[in-house]
Amino acid sequence: MRLEAALDLIAEVPDFPEPGVLFRDLSPLFADGAGFAAVTDGLAATLAPEAELVAGVEARGFLLAAAVGYLRGLGVVLVRKPGKLPAVAGRVDYALEYGTASVELPAGVVRAGQRIAVLDDVLATGGTAVAAGKLLEDAGATVTGVSVVLELAALGGRAALGGRSVHALRSV
Ligand code: PRP
Ligand code: HPA
Repeated sequence: MRLEAALDLIAEVPDFPEPGVLFRDLSPLFADGAGFAAVTDGLAATLAPEAELVAGVEARGFLLAAAVGYLRGLGVVLVRKPGKLPAVAGRVDYALEYGTASVELPAGVVRAGQRIAVLDDVLATGGTAVAAGKLLEDAGATVTGVSVVLELAALGGRAALGGRSVHALRSV
């Protein structure tokens, strides 16, 4: 399947999770074998050649990181929501529109100097990707870039990520 056709499988759901929000639901894309393969290939092509590991952000980022990691012969680092890991190497708290969120890195996984690509499904405000990047850099890694399937450009994620290399298969 061509990448554009795969991306057209993303559904638009009005008024979720609250009135006025147009939610992009990637579930139909993930459920389509050819579509999932096309976005996996597309994301893999955005990885810097020097990337040694792929970091996936919980939860939907895990799917993509696993698929891309397998395709490229790279291991996967889990960037997790809090309370899931038995031993934590680091934690970054970040602000949401209402309240806060956190991401944690498992202990003993990332080595200083490792070059890591961050993968997720959607880049919205960028808060999650910024936090994931900081988490990895706090552990001594170098972030080679952030790759997502879909960028919601109006929400400013690319600017929030500053000078990082950002790749989106589609920007809306
Ligand atoms: C979504 C998405 C990104 C993040 C993007 O995750 O998968 O991780 O939000 O938003 P941001 O750029 O404004 O931070 P969500 O927290 O809904 O988690 P899920 O993957 O577990 O559903
Ligand atoms: N879809 C999926 N994840 C998201 C969205 C969305 O529209 N906005 C923020 N995270």
